[in-house]
Amino acid sequence: MSRPCPILTIDGPSGSGKGTISRALAQHLHWHLLDSGALYRLVALGGVRQGLDPEDRDGHARLAAHMEVHFGASDGAEHVALQGEDVTQAIRSEEAGQGASRVAAWPGVRAALLRRQRAFAEPPGLVADGRDMGTVVFPQADLKIFLTATAEERALRRHKQLKDKGSDVSLPALSREIAERDARDQTRQVAPLRPASDACVIDSTGLSVGDVVQRVLALGAARGMWAP
Ligand code: DC
Repeated sequence: MSRPCPILTIDGPSGSGKGTISRALAQHLHWHLLDSGALYRLVALGGVRQGLDPEDRDGHARLAAHMEVHFGASDGAEHVALQGEDVTQAIRSEEAGQGASRVAAWPGVRAALLRRQRAFAEPPGLVADGRDMGTVVFPQADLKIFLTATAEERALRRHKQLKDKGSDVSLPALSREIAERDARDQTRQVAPLRPASDACVIDSTGLSVGDVVQRVLALGAARGMWAP
């Protein structure tokens, strides 16, 4: 059972900068970090590795409930292991992202991941990064941020990220994939991507990571979550 602690949720579409901002905030606050997208990516990847039928919803839900996952850090870098195997790189591929978006539309998978996600809430606090952190997983969160950016800017950011990693994906293809993924995440029946009614919406188009972090820190300080 997780213990009560302050919770900051950061939701938003792919490429809105949630991952970078959440990581920076968790480091600054010395809080735990939940990268919930990584859990959906692990279910998709685990399904492929186990040879599950891509449409086998029950099989994927069982995998979500029972897969052995480890998040750790060594040499200053984060590592993710699935069934004891390092999959840090493998879960970041576009293919794993697309697979994650597909399995994330299945209620059984989402239900199986709920308890896992809530277990990350441990003192001194949690920064939870995802799509439904403020709406479904942590509706009681102390501060909810919904981070957006224009689709063009998100495609450009993702393109630069992939290029820096040596992948050569065309910008138009990426823009199309982002638009497809947005549409699927926003229109699915369970936990669709949308801001919680009490979320603070921040449009990060044209803002630096530092600008966004400062805005979130100011919002939390105004609520007494930490010192200004
Ligand atoms: O943030 P990401 O790109 O790693 O997420 C991968 C996919 O997982 C994304 O397309 C939607 C899904 N997802 C979700 O449905 N709910 C979450 N809380 C996190 C991710």
